[in-house]
Amino acid sequence: MRRSSRTALSLAVVPVVAAGLLLATGPAPSAAPLPDADAVAAAARTGTTLAAAANLTGRWFGTAVAANKLADPVYAGILNREFDVVTPENEMKLDATEPRQGEFHFTNADRIVDHALARGARVRGHTLLWHAGLPGWLQGLSGAALRQAMLNHVTGVVTHYRGRVHSWDVVNEAFADGTSGRRRDSSFQRTGDDWIEAAFRTARAADPGAKLCYNDYNTESWAHAKTQAVHRMVQDFRARGVPIDCVGLQSHFGSGNPVPADFRTTLRNFADLGVDVQITELDVEGSGQAQADGYRRVVRDCLAVPRCAGITVWGIRDTDSWRASGTPLLFDGRGEEKPAYHAVRSALLGG
Ligand code: G3I
Repeated sequence: MRRSSRTALSLAVVPVVAAGLLLATGPAPSAAPLPDADAVAAAARTGTTLAAAANLTGRWFGTAVAANKLADPVYAGILNREFDVVTPENEMKLDATEPRQGEFHFTNADRIVDHALARGARVRGHTLLWHAGLPGWLQGLSGAALRQAMLNHVTGVVTHYRGRVHSWDVVNEAFADGTSGRRRDSSFQRTGDDWIEAAFRTARAADPGAKLCYNDYNTESWAHAKTQAVHRMVQDFRARGVPIDCVGLQSHFGSGNPVPADFRTTLRNFADLGVDVQITELDVEGSGQAQADGYRRVVRDCLAVPRCAGITVWGIRDTDSWRASGTPLLFDGRGEEKPAYHAVRSALLGG
């Protein structure tokens, strides 16, 4: 690794601040499809980082972070060098932030947020409401009591992070897999179809400056019924003035679930609704050139869509991944750059 020539913090932080202003006031309508040739030449001369390369087109490049790994110097070194957006991997989930009703616990999430903000990076909040990771107290509620507890949770967490989180995954994975195009059955869903819009309105009231996203998986191919169901919901929200600013596409890929040929179409179709698209949990199982090719396609598809505001990978080293055996990330267990890393960086530079 050419650490000495890779001054990511200095290379990335200045553009990050500029990009932060861009994101604070609106999505990246000015994001260019390809970087300026002189900027690419300069980046190639000096060596560059993922964040700095993404910043050349007004985009960001982020990663999921675990609070208990921040003390690992290899982990923190890569994080600080390469990434300008941080998503707490588990620390903002409902079971972590409100383990007992009305008792909020932010210590671990705060460690990540403080670490990111101190270095000029920004934070994606993940996630306010999800059918998984629910604490016992909430599983015992239903009907109006659950609806009220749900909205109290949104208000409590978003208020705590007001002004410090640039995008929230307000609702995560609310649609069913398969061809039905229906909502997933969950305790939240059983409080009524309007639970999602109620959550978005409550989040907007708690932090009018944060971007509010709907986030899901298996919504990358336009051919999927689930993708089109989410698209219909966002279209309906936009038509009725429900506050939604972005759609997150998790993008967990592998040999059984390759990057779809129509991924770019999906990104465009969501963007055409007037929302940002964000690639929020990218990983591609595999190795070598095949894996690198998958990553390259994702980056190229994002760069082709001006409102594709940024890409987040779901972890740093393969050993940090939720599916470590699939070696799906950009750095190996020793923290060395993989071919996929170089493919991503080169694609961000227009290659
Ligand atoms: O930290 C505890 C540890 O103390 C304990 O000994 C161990 C025993 O199982 O569990 C550890 O917690 C685990 C945690 O990851 C940290 O490793 C949880 O059991 C495990 O359930 C949790 O899994 C997370 C999963 O979401 C469920 O919340 C993964 O890290 C996380 O990557 C994954 O992320 C999700 C996104 O939020 C939504 N999209 C899908 C994505 C992948 O599943």
